[in-house]
Amino acid sequence: MAEPVLSMSGVTKSFSGVRALVKGELDLYAGEVTALIGENGAGKSTLVKILTGVHHADEGTIRLNGQPVRIGSADGAGRLGISAIFQEAVVFDDLSVAENIFVTDRPRRHGMVDWATMQSRARTILAGLDPRIDPSVPMRQLSVAQKHLVQIARALSVEARIVIMDEPTAALSHREVDELFTIVRRLKAEGRAVLFISHKFEEIFDVADRYAVFRDGAAVGQGFIRDVDRDTLISLMVGRSVDHIFPKVEVPIGEELFRVDGFSRGEEFADVSFALRRGEILGVYGLVGAGRSEVMQALFGLTRADAGRVTLEGHSLVIHSPEDAIRAGIAYVPEDRQIQGGILRFPISSNIVLPSLGHLSHRGFLRRSEERALAGNYVTQLQIKTSGVGQRLEELSGGNQQKVVIAKWLATNPRVLIMDEPTKGIDVGAKTAVYRLMGEMVAQGLGIIMVSSELPEVLGMADRILVMRRGRLRANFSRAEATPESIVKAATDA
Ligand SMILES: Nc1ncnc2c1ncn2[C@@H]1O[C@H](COP(=O)(O)OP(=O)(O)OP(=O)(O)O)[C@@H](O)[C@H]1O
Ligand SMILES: [Mg+2]
Repeated sequence: MAEPVLSMSGVTKSFSGVRALVKGELDLYAGEVTALIGENGAGKSTLVKILTGVHHADEGTIRLNGQPVRIGSADGAGRLGISAIFQEAVVFDDLSVAENIFVTDRPRRHGMVDWATMQSRARTILAGLDPRIDPSVPMRQLSVAQKHLVQIARALSVEARIVIMDEPTAALSHREVDELFTIVRRLKAEGRAVLFISHKFEEIFDVADRYAVFRDGAAVGQGFIRDVDRDTLISLMVGRSVDHIFPKVEVPIGEELFRVDGFSRGEEFADVSFALRRGEILGVYGLVGAGRSEVMQALFGLTRADAGRVTLEGHSLVIHSPEDAIRAGIAYVPEDRQIQGGILRFPISSNIVLPSLGHLSHRGFLRRSEERALAGNYVTQLQIKTSGVGQRLEELSGGNQQKVVIAKWLATNPRVLIMDEPTKGIDVGAKTAVYRLMGEMVAQGLGIIMVSSELPEVLGMADRILVMRRGRLRANFSRAEATPESIVKAATDA
């Protein structure tokens, strides 16, 4: 039997009374990919942060090749050959791409930073990821996905024995995921141990050799991927089986609620027209880059369309800002919830009521009891794992932060709710909670526009499906007509 290159045992970590890890166990093997899975808040990222010296364990042992080690700091982890791609991207927008890659260990010559070597090494690493990324440009010029690729490049720049990836695919398109997996396989072939965290089962079965499941901070199972199926992993994760992933409720579709005609903006999208009816969930499918989010951002007033007309309940709308949109009854749950999402230092309750201040404040004062009650409701409905609504957003796990951002937009009582990749980063059980809530909202006469790149989600939840490709609407399917093949064909045909 192979000996693990890294082995954690009895690792416990609490944050002011909240137990994030309880006697955590994990083994990683050279030349193998281990998938770490668990619900939002199960302790996965905490474990990563302990392995990389960001947090220190309260108890427990970490062994590298059998020898106990102390990982005191991020630099210490690097020296031990452990490198990580974190769930929350830490990038420096004003520095160049190359500087971001070599942020902790810039190549030097005679004590000076060796810029030429840094550029060329950055170019070599990037060539295998996305050759279009120029290492000399400032980081801010990159898309979200490209910034993520730079983080990956950073992890690859050090000769790490252990490479950790905490939800590396959440911001990537399908093509980029394929490229990432090519890299993961190369790392494996080079004999490195990879820890891979994801909520997507297809990816886990595609790339992992082993699995380790955590529930409420404790290890509840590990073994070979070839010995398990999806349902077994799900029941280990949530402690029960999940039968109805898509709890679609049949809601009578009412009259037309919202209409968009001839909507265009520069190179981003052209001549987009569609209608949304009461009670309807309208799915908008497309490949990453098809222009879907750009349309939604313009509808919400984050950007401005060059042409087109928007009507809500028969009235023409003029939307120049998100405030205009919220006032009109339009809410937008953005895809990039880290950047456009919430205020990390504020409590959950304030984050949830922030955009709703209008109808909750009373002569300028916020009714704190109402604020807490409203927030408390969403915490229950969306299964947000927290010690209370007064807890700061930054203390929640990544997936639970996402749920807070969703709650904040639901709380504005919109008539039209736009959700961009609503279940990204959310675990399998909580996904169902989000879907159930969507069903309740449309039952009350709302209309939902759901932008999604997940075919099962679109097919499982949408009443009608629009497909966008290169900035234009290419197809419009009813729920009955839509098949996976027809949707994918419309999204990819030249
Ligand atoms: N800095 C912190 N302060 C307080 N509590 C924290 C802190 N960091 C994490 N926690 C808590 O520890 C628990 C585990 O969080 P962790 O981020 O490890 O979860 P996760 O498994 O990565 O979840 P996700 O899938 O949502 O990313 C959560 O209950 C979280 O609220
Ligand atoms: Mg996490």
